[in-house]
Amino acid sequence: MIRVGLLGAGRIGQIHGRNVAASGKARLVAVADALPDACLSLATDLGARAASVEAVILDRDIDAVLICTPTDTHADLIEAAVKAGKAVFCEKPVDLSSDRIKACLAVVAKAGLPLMIGFNRRFDPNFAEARRRIAAGGIGAVELVSIISRDPSPPAASYVARSGGLFRDMMIHDLDMARFLLGEEPVEVHAVGSCLVDPGIGAAGDVDTAAVLLKTASGRIAQITNSRRASYGYDQRFEVHGSLGMVRAQNVPTSTVEVATGQGFLADPVLPFFLERYAAAYRAELDHFLSSVAAGTPPSPSGEDGLKAQLLADAATHSQQTGQPVRLTL
Ligand SMILES: NC(=O)c1ccc[n+]([C@@H]2O[C@H](COP(=O)([O-])OP(=O)(O)OC[C@H]3O[C@@H](n4cnc5c(N)ncnc54)[C@H](O)[C@@H]3O)[C@@H](O)[C@H]2O)c1
Repeated sequence: MIRVGLLGAGRIGQIHGRNVAASGKARLVAVADALPDACLSLATDLGARAASVEAVILDRDIDAVLICTPTDTHADLIEAAVKAGKAVFCEKPVDLSSDRIKACLAVVAKAGLPLMIGFNRRFDPNFAEARRRIAAGGIGAVELVSIISRDPSPPAASYVARSGGLFRDMMIHDLDMARFLLGEEPVEVHAVGSCLVDPGIGAAGDVDTAAVLLKTASGRIAQITNSRRASYGYDQRFEVHGSLGMVRAQNVPTSTVEVATGQGFLADPVLPFFLERYAAAYRAELDHFLSSVAAGTPPSPSGEDGLKAQLLADAATHSQQTGQPVRLTL
């Protein structure tokens, strides 16, 4: 049984905490959060102890910590946890600065402990199955990847101002998926963006609508489109075209019921947002982390995957701001 400490009892911390408690592979020992009430409530609910962040990190009876606190705390907490001998699962992104991520990964490498980053979409059952079919050669050589990712509604402009911008905050998941599906690192990034959804987002210096083109050394191309708004719910799809065919993964509806009348077919809405859409993915990613820690094998996606997605997000931000393509080596 892996003994787990949870840092952060907010939206995503509650998901991971409940998944640990339900897992047969681990025991949730302690929960820490800056808000004592949030901490005590989740800890009590899950049969764990409420503790301070420092106490969790230094607890000799904890093998692994899950970092689910705000992004600007991640790098410091990763470093403190690996120095204390813990395996670490950390939510994305590692940090908004690539230089800070590099420094953090050097500390992790020196400690020689596992670090997994929460790119949960790789673990979505449909996306993972599509990837397996591609890897098995079902569509031949990958040529084009198209990813559509739209949130149901925009976040508050105050959140946007601290988020690092759409490419680092939102598209980072899609940039990781593009790497996952392309099977080859991008060497060129071209981004465009607009503010079409919320003028407050523009006033905060960000875009809410964006498209990115990635090109690999051999010529494979990925296109990603993002919007902070979709009137019909959380839109999460991709399509990969190869030399022998095409594979795609569609949205997941709230039910498969359709009603047909003379006006056509009416299907139920898609799952509303990430907590519902990726519930199975969060369970599967945690299971992978726990299995890897138990087996002593490196978990994936790694800290390096976190850095590479961030470098792509930096390049996209720069390209959108300058109107020029950016070349890079990952
Ligand atoms: N992979 C995903 O699908 C996904 C989804 C949501 C959020 N996230 C990431 O997870 C992280 C948390 O996001 P969230 O939406 O759960 O935020 P949240 O605000 O709901 O929760 C964060 C919690 O951390 C606590 N906290 C703040 N500073 C702390 C500190 N120094 N020490 C201990 N606790 C502290 C807060 O009190 C809060 O309870 C972010 O980095 C975000 O990018 C990932």
